[in-house]
Amino acid sequence: MSFSLASKVALVTGAGSGIGEAIALRFARAGALVWAADVNEDAARNTIRLIREGGGEGEALRLDVTSDADFVAALARVPIVDVLVANAGIGHVGTVLTTSVADFERILSVNVVGVLRTLKTWMPGMVERKRGAVVITGSTAGLEGLVDRFAYTASKHAVVGMMRCAALDHATSGVRVNAVCPGRVETPFVKARLREYPDPEAAYREMASTQAQRRMGTPEEIANAALFLASDEASFITGAALAVDGGWTAGMFPQK
Ligand SMILES: NC(=O)c1ccc[n+]([C@@H]2O[C@H](COP(=O)([O-])OP(=O)(O)OC[C@H]3O[C@@H](n4cnc5c(N)ncnc54)[C@H](O)[C@@H]3O)[C@@H](O)[C@H]2O)c1
Repeated sequence: MSFSLASKVALVTGAGSGIGEAIALRFARAGALVWAADVNEDAARNTIRLIREGGGEGEALRLDVTSDADFVAALARVPIVDVLVANAGIGHVGTVLTTSVADFERILSVNVVGVLRTLKTWMPGMVERKRGAVVITGSTAGLEGLVDRFAYTASKHAVVGMMRCAALDHATSGVRVNAVCPGRVETPFVKARLREYPDPEAAYREMASTQAQRRMGTPEEIANAALFLASDEASFITGAALAVDGGWTAGMFPQK
């Protein structure tokens, strides 16, 4: 089955790279007109260039999810959205002892308040029109604790909680709200990090070892899951945190 977003308008935050870029490209291939929003406008433009090269339709939008003014301007340009993907997010490494309050607030301001601003900007119109699908990029860090990811895990747990509440509050409105929760994904950023290790293959195996399938996911695999949740075929799914993690959160598995 191939899921269609024909005649839908989709907006994706953090669409200039990695998972957001893959979602934007996949949604455009499924027929959506895609607004690629990113704090890095050049990166957003590049995503739109790739979409157009593939025969799709889209526009780039500069949007810093920490800026109220950017959201006001974005809503003026894109007043109606059928599919909203709150994907922009940043990582952080640290324990409770090594994470500063400033770092914690910075992570929450992008990963949590940024998602809040995204929902508050476009969900009212969806609720008013009684239709729409929201997909939030969570993480396995929103489903269980991760070592040395104190602030990031806090932020992704918050995002999963926000998704569940927004889904419940609007369950009868025709608007569905779900999260895709990736495990480790081989984004360009991760690939660049791997190349810095003396033994990149060993580093890959180490990073992939948290997943039962013993490999990292690809951005396209996350995008496929987001497409399903955004499509009408997922009409009875709301409030779901869909793990796309190669079995990471399924339970214990032998470390071999
Ligand atoms: N890569 C992984 O292994 C992984 C795993 C689980 C969850 N995630 C989540 O997936 C999402 C995307 O991550 P990615 O790996 O594709 O990262 P990435 O760094 O490749 O892309 C993130 C994009 O978000 C943009 N961005 C950063 N701050 C922003 C802001 N303030 N406003 C608007 N855009 C901003 C960046 O410019 C970039 O284009 C994040 O929410 C991340 O937490 C990633």
